[in-house]
This record gives sequence, structure tokens and C-alpha cells, in this order.
Amino acid sequence: MAAQNIATEAHRRRTFAIISHPDAGKTTVTEKLLLYGGAIQLAGTVKGRKSDRHATSDWMELEKERGISVTSSVMQFPYRDEVVNLLDTPGHADFSEDTYRTLTAVDSALMVIDAAKGVEERTVKLMDVCRLRTTPIMTFMNKLDREGRDPMDLMDEVERILKIRCAPVTWPIGMGKRFRGVFHLLDNRVHLYEAHHKGGIQQGEVIEGLDNARLDEVLGDQADELRDEVELLQEAGNAFDEAAYLAGELTPVFFGSAINNFGLQELLDRFVQHAPSPQPRESEDRAVQPEEAQLSGFVFKIQANMDPNHRDRIAFMRICSGAFERGMKLRHARIGKDVRIANAITFLASDRDHVETAYPGDIIGLHNHGTIQIGDTFTQGETLKFAGIPNFAPELFRRAVLKDPMRMKALQKGLVELCEEGASQLFRPLTNNDLIVGAVGALQFDVVAFRLKNEYGVDCQFEPVGVTTARWVYSDDEKRLAQFRDRQAENLAEDVSGALAYIAPSRVNLQLTEERWPDIEFRATREH
Ligand code: G4P
Repeated sequence: MAAQNIATEAHRRRTFAIISHPDAGKTTVTEKLLLYGGAIQLAGTVKGRKSDRHATSDWMELEKERGISVTSSVMQFPYRDEVVNLLDTPGHADFSEDTYRTLTAVDSALMVIDAAKGVEERTVKLMDVCRLRTTPIMTFMNKLDREGRDPMDLMDEVERILKIRCAPVTWPIGMGKRFRGVFHLLDNRVHLYEAHHKGGIQQGEVIEGLDNARLDEVLGDQADELRDEVELLQEAGNAFDEAAYLAGELTPVFFGSAINNFGLQELLDRFVQHAPSPQPRESEDRAVQPEEAQLSGFVFKIQANMDPNHRDRIAFMRICSGAFERGMKLRHARIGKDVRIANAITFLASDRDHVETAYPGDIIGLHNHGTIQIGDTFTQGETLKFAGIPNFAPELFRRAVLKDPMRMKALQKGLVELCEEGASQLFRPLTNNDLIVGAVGALQFDVVAFRLKNEYGVDCQFEPVGVTTARWVYSDDEKRLAQFRDRQAENLAEDVSGALAYIAPSRVNLQLTEERWPDIEFRATREH
């Protein structure tokens, strides 16, 4: 593939994910973005509406949806001259470590906030993950058609809690019953809001300039209110600054109502203009440039396929450089083997298709019979290992208990294999024979139990266990580490990779232990 072509195609890519708290409007925003991208004709077709989702502690239901969820894990659509890749971040009951790790495979993120609720707990966590790689963030304040909080307060809260400066790009005119539209601070235009959109794209009236007399005609008193607010913003607020946005220090803020298709087009226009295209990516030896001729990529997620009888899994690989073409041979760098990739999957929105060509920023799905692990690198021959695709410390822990003790071997095998997919983790304490599974979302325990039964013929239950959080422990001082291992053995475990983890009975205990062992490092992530 001509290098010029690779550079051009890479430059057109915008690969991002949405971070939000459940119910803030991620699904609705996704749907509308697909609508603007021409990927769907009418909104209302994206799977996983709330009515389905909340009942999904039943893994059977999820099982039925598996095929679909592979497809909607990545949605690709063209917008203007760019190609947008939107990576799904599972959010409700299906929240898991995959959600975190997906954020290591994007170049930027869109934060969706419910304007009535402000910054919520899940958003804070996801933002922390974005910080690991200083990911640029755009913000959409959603649900302005309802009474919400004062827009200034909302921005203050984002600045205070998330420690990022806010620069409004659009500004709301009223809210709830008085919501009339937004003023675009960079384009100096007012976009008027219409509530009845019937699922299509909104094309309300646009008024040029704040001084336009038409504004007073349409908005009445609200016109002067708007002028005052904008004056205040221009004097005291942050102006949009692309460099600060790209450095993760400032977030451009847009206001709107996703359900009414309002305010998102302004965001999408600016998104394709300013959001970063694929950036150079660090490997253990060197930084890999997207426009390099040779293909490279890393696996950030593994998902079980539809048919459990085949144990077929799809490995999601993000392309970092070069171009992928069907039938090409790739080097699986960790095991040093070459494999021919005949049937990779691509993710054109609403359709799962076989990939012909894919470029940096794109995601492809590789069929995997158990040899591919999260964090694995693929190349065209170079021995390379991409960095920054970690495991995250689980937040929930349970002990696996067998119904039939004779099935111990099968249980261990099943747990190891399922945990290798990466949505849950296995810890084996140093001082007893417990099998402790850790996860970021509670549904993962149901998933593991169901799949153990279905795929490994093992009946197992998950019971509470006295572990609150885990930290991987490191030290350059081997003697000291050995001492630590000795004295703290009761609270230590090995994970699937054999790495040593401190499994803390409580946060307080963790804190005290950290204070007592200042030369031991306690890390909340572990690199593969
Ligand atoms: P999520 O994926 O972040 O969890 O949120 P989702 O889009 O499912 O939206 C959560 C709820 O908020 C949904 O209502 C959705 O219709 C509503 N919503 C999204 N955007 C807006 C908006 O701009 N204004 C208003 N007023 N509501 C909005 P639901 O009744 O809980 O579910 P559903 O039956 O509509 O699916």
C-alpha cells in the first residue's frame, strides 16, 4: 500500500468513545451520530434501549444479543471528509473492565452529561482512565429540553471535580419549557430549537449574529438575556483553544437535547475538525507512527462469539500503522508466529462485514481460538510490543465455590480461559486454595457462572469474600519485596499471569499497608 495513501487515510480517521454515567444519554447520542453519519435513516434503531437493558442481569438474554453486541462494539461511519470510528463502552449492567480498556484504544472521548444531574460517579472513574493517556475530551451537556441545573454551575462542577477547564462552544438559550436553542460562540450564530423532529435531522432556523434584530423578534426578552450571558462568557470564561484541548487540559462544551436531535450536529462538525487523528503510539522499543508502511496493531478486547459450541472468540485489534488487507499475513508478535488473516471483521455501522482494507484508527475483528490475548501486538514481521493496554484493579470480588468437588480441574481451566478474555480476573491467594474472581461490574459474575456451566460443564456459585480492592505490588528492591511477601502473605495473591497482587480486606487496610511499606509500589493497573 502506498505510504501516501496510508497517511491520507490515517489523517481522516477519528476514533473515539463516549464516557458517561448510565442514563445520561449515551445510547441516544450514539444513535443520533449514526443518523448524521447517514448510517441509519431514522433514529430509534440502535439496540440496547433501556427497557431491554435493565433486565439484563439475566445472562441468557445477553447471550441472545451477543451477535449483535459484537457488531455494535465498533461503529464506523463517514462524516464530511472524515471517517469516524465510535467504540462502544458498555455502561449499564454490562459495565466491565472492557469499558476501561476500550478507552486505551481511542484517540479522544466524548463526555455526555445529564444537565439535571451534573458530574456523576461513573463519569469520574472513566475520566480517570482517560487521564492515563491524556485523552482529549469534548463535552455534551444533554437534556436541555428539561429543567436542569444552571449551565455556569455545570461547568464549574466539571472544572472542580474533573479538573479540566471548560470552554463553551455553544451556549443554551433557556432550558426546559423556555429552551429556545443554542448560540454558537465560534460561528456567531443562533440555532433555534424545534421539539418536533420525528426522528429525522433537525433543520431549524439559523440566525446570523447576536445583534440581528430577528433574534429579538423570535426570542423576545430571552434575546437580551442571551446577549448578557455571552458578554459575561467572553469576559470571564475560557475561550476555545485547540492546543489545550489536544493536551487534555480543556474541554470544549456543547449544549443540546440528544433525544430531539438538537445540538449534536454542531458538536460533530467541530469534532471532525479538531479531534485528533491517530497519533504515534508507544511500544516498548519505539514510538510507532501511523503513516508507517508496515502494519501494526494491538488487541484491546476479546469477546465470545455467538456460538458457544465453537468457543470462537473475536479479538478486537486497533490498527496503529500501515494498512490491513484481506488475506494478508500477520506476525503474532508474542508467540512469534505468522498467521494468514482471511476473514477479519470490519464494523461499518449497522452491518457486520468482511474487511477489505483498514487503516490506522480502524478496528478489525480477528477470529481467535484461544491463542490471542489482550495486549497482544500484531505486525508484518517486526517484533514489537505496544504499551499502555493494562489490566485495571477490580472493584468487586467473589469466591468461586464448586457444587461438585470432582470438577476442580475443569473449574480452574474454565476460570483461567474466561479471565483471559479480560472482562474479569482470577486471583489465587498465597495462603489458601480459594479461587477469587474480581470484576469491575457485577454482571460479570453471572456471565462467568453461566459460561462455566455452558462451555465447561461446571456448576459453580459465587460467594462473598473479604476483599475490597486489589493492587499489583512492585519493588526494585528484591529483598524488600521478599520480606513483604513473607509478612503480608495472608493478603497476597497471584493473578493469571503470575503477577503478585495485594488483595485488601478494606480501603483503610490498603492505606495503612501502603504507609507501612513506603518502598513497595501499589499499582491500580498492570501492564500486559
Ligand atoms: P444511556 O445510554 O446513557 O444509559 O442513556 P439513554 O440514551 O438510554 O437515555 C436514557 C434516558 O434518557 C432515556 O429515557 C432517553 O430517552 C432519555 N434521554 C436521552 N436524551 C434525552 C434528551 O435530550 N432529553 C430528554 N428529556 N431525555 C433524553 P428512558 O425513558 O429512560 O428510556 P427509553 O424508554 O426512552 O429508552
